[in-house]
Amino acid sequence: MLNLVDFKTFDDERYARHLVLKTDNMEILVVCWMPGQETVVHGHGPTDGVVIVLEGEIQNTDYHPDGKVVTATYKKGAILHAPVGFRHKIANCSREKCITLHIYSPPLGKEYLNPDLGYSNEVKVEEIQLPDEVVRYMMACPKSPNEEIGDPSCSI
Ligand SMILES: [Fe+2]
Repeated sequence: MLNLVDFKTFDDERYARHLVLKTDNMEILVVCWMPGQETVVHGHGPTDGVVIVLEGEIQNTDYHPDGKVVTATYKKGAILHAPVGFRHKIANCSREKCITLHIYSPPLGKEYLNPDLGYSNEVKVEEIQLPDEVVRYMMACPKSPNEEIGDPSCSI
């Protein structure tokens, strides 16, 4: 059995990606963000994904094909959908640590495990059971993502 606490490892240098599960059809990651850490602007290729905020809050910026840029803050319990073709950047602009759960289908390509984009901590397991905390968040997340506009001056 896996427990979320096993994946609560932060890295002062870059956001820490922890691979929880990867099959032919899906991939689950826990990502731990220190204040100020952020991704580059990126897409996920043919992968459809969701990001669930487990602790703290993240700021997501969408880069739409028409040039529109939309930033929103996602607080604990919020779900961000990152559909195929989505281009975005995630940042922890808060002063607190943040933990997010990422579910992708199909699994992300190898380019997303580039050490420059964070590191992965692959855990081999015989039996997979999502932690109770994760199940609770997934079952009890009734709210739409917070539409609050993030701090545009956030520069990390
Ligand atoms: Fe992403």
